[in-house]
Amino acid sequence: MSTSIDVFAKAREHERLEQLRAARELDLVPYFRVLEGPTLPVVEMEGKRRIMLGSNNYLGLTGDERVARGAEEALHRYGTGLTGSRFLNGTTDLHLELERELAEWFGTEGALVFTTGHQANVGALGTILGPGDTVVVDSGDHASILDGCILSRAKLRPFRHNRIDRLEHTLEKAASDGGGILVVVDGVFSMEGDVAPLPEIAELSHRYGARLMVDEAHALGVLGSRGAGASELFGVEDQVDLRMATFSKSLASCGGVIAGPADVIEFLRVSSRPFMFTASAVPAALGAALAAVRICRSDEGRELFARVLDNARYLHRGLDELGFQVVKPTRLADGTEIVTTVVPVVVGDDWKAAFLWKALYDRGLYVNVALHPAVPPAGALLRTSVMATHDHDTLDEALEIFADAKRSFEAEHGALPGRA
Ligand SMILES: Cc1ncc(COP(=O)(O)O)c(C=O)c1O
Repeated sequence: MSTSIDVFAKAREHERLEQLRAARELDLVPYFRVLEGPTLPVVEMEGKRRIMLGSNNYLGLTGDERVARGAEEALHRYGTGLTGSRFLNGTTDLHLELERELAEWFGTEGALVFTTGHQANVGALGTILGPGDTVVVDSGDHASILDGCILSRAKLRPFRHNRIDRLEHTLEKAASDGGGILVVVDGVFSMEGDVAPLPEIAELSHRYGARLMVDEAHALGVLGSRGAGASELFGVEDQVDLRMATFSKSLASCGGVIAGPADVIEFLRVSSRPFMFTASAVPAALGAALAAVRICRSDEGRELFARVLDNARYLHRGLDELGFQVVKPTRLADGTEIVTTVVPVVVGDDWKAAFLWKALYDRGLYVNVALHPAVPPAGALLRTSVMATHDHDTLDEALEIFADAKRSFEAEHGALPGRA
């Protein structure tokens, strides 16, 4: 007997197909746009100069000569690729040096370098958690966290984004599940740019006997005086059991890391399948990341962290003054506002987000579009992000483009959501 169900049917009938077809016809698809040069504050993209407010190159280090030299030297010393897993034949002294520097930066006993950040999350969560455990996640956590949880087959208990009362309620339930509990949150949430209230999360995790892991992807090289992330900013590094970060944002490269207690790191080194059964990063990626880590850990790092946050404040204020609804910086109980590099403009409707994106793109400005499932349904955002290397003149030019695009968009499609 043969089946009448074709596994390819989902590729031919999926729900976004019609939407994509219509968007393609109008040249409105904001994804897979082609860069023709390095990711710098201003880029060449599809034959035109465009201001780049849609990258994660927060410190601007992809254009730094020392980082380029780190990549070049690694390329010449180790060749173009390592052609195998770190486990068998792909570990170099660059990996070990990078792991030593990263552990020192985080202030942890150990660190393990993965080929991507996605693999770091999947490789850590899929190994540390098992079917008898419970994992408690914020509903805004990155997809790679969810993928790791699914791989582990632990019981998944999400709580409503950044709601401490919901976390407590979830932990109460998790306590009667009968296994170990791990709480996992992003330090800075990738789309909204808001920050997890880590002191409260750490206190609750401790109270319920749960371990805590923080994904510092968008916080490493940005927050805290050492740039060691949200855990450092909040002064809770000693209460966070595992820290994750990627090299694909402030570190201007590609790769990922898990940092934590030596015995847990060693366990991952010999047991994590997404670590063991994939090829090592190419040497140039490791050389670039190592050079970027060293810049971050030098006095210059502090200047870069201050500069990128100053640019974020500048862009936030400018967009707010133009009447856009900009996601507000996280306000702590003591009134402090935490600005991050991610400055999102709320649009709401998917099509409106695409039209506004196109109006900006055609005027020479590139930003990211976040649609469901990256954000809640009807919560479309234009996600802008800054670099330490943007100057105010370039940000002013971007704001003028925003003002002009808003005028023509609203004349045609009606008012955008206004200042909250
Ligand atoms: C919060 C967060 N975690 C993990 C990742 C995965 O990192 P990578 O892109 O290095 O695989 C990302 C990347 O987008 C992210 O934003």
